[in-house]
Amino acid sequence: MKHNDIEKVLFEKDEIARRIKEVAKKICEDYKDKKDILVVGILKGSFIFMSDLVRELDLDISVDFIIASSYGNRTITSGDLKITKDLTCDITGKHIIIAEDIVDSGITLKALQSLLSGRGAASIKVCAFLDKKEGRLVDFDADYICFDVPNAFLVGYGLDYAEKYRELPYVGILKKEIYE
Ligand code: PRP
Repeated sequence: MKHNDIEKVLFEKDEIARRIKEVAKKICEDYKDKKDILVVGILKGSFIFMSDLVRELDLDISVDFIIASSYGNRTITSGDLKITKDLTCDITGKHIIIAEDIVDSGITLKALQSLLSGRGAASIKVCAFLDKKEGRLVDFDADYICFDVPNAFLVGYGLDYAEKYRELPYVGILKKEIYE
């Protein structure tokens, strides 16, 4: 059973739901006077977080998705980003809120921010479900963070190991024996 592969549960379903409500409330306050808000999910990891987040936003928004991953190159330019699936809409003049499951090295988000600002967005903020600050290789801070997490192998609530465990309703630390 997949649950037996989990060493420890860090955040249970109810705690996640409570925290997302709090963060969504803050976003609503910050954006209440803004028009043309676009929430961008970075697939695949953000699909569960984003769907929960947008349902808590009492704002008029649109959604779009991008599949992007970094090459792990420390020279950060938008060219280091591999886009497998691009956005479908024009973002000129839009207020972008990027929904991301986890910030680790920060490379993906830093490159993505630079790419999207080059396309004429009015503003870009990042809402991260998890923030693994110990993993940072570049200078990057998310604007909204649901939880800070330790430097451990995390799965669930969108996060995977070899494309498994994304569907777990909680966030847990994967047992070492599974990936070693
Ligand atoms: C993960 C995560 C972020 C990125 C964070 O995506 O969803 O996009 O890595 O890492 P970074 O801060 O070190 O750049 P991954 O490439 O594993 O793809 P996935 O979303 O499909 O799981």
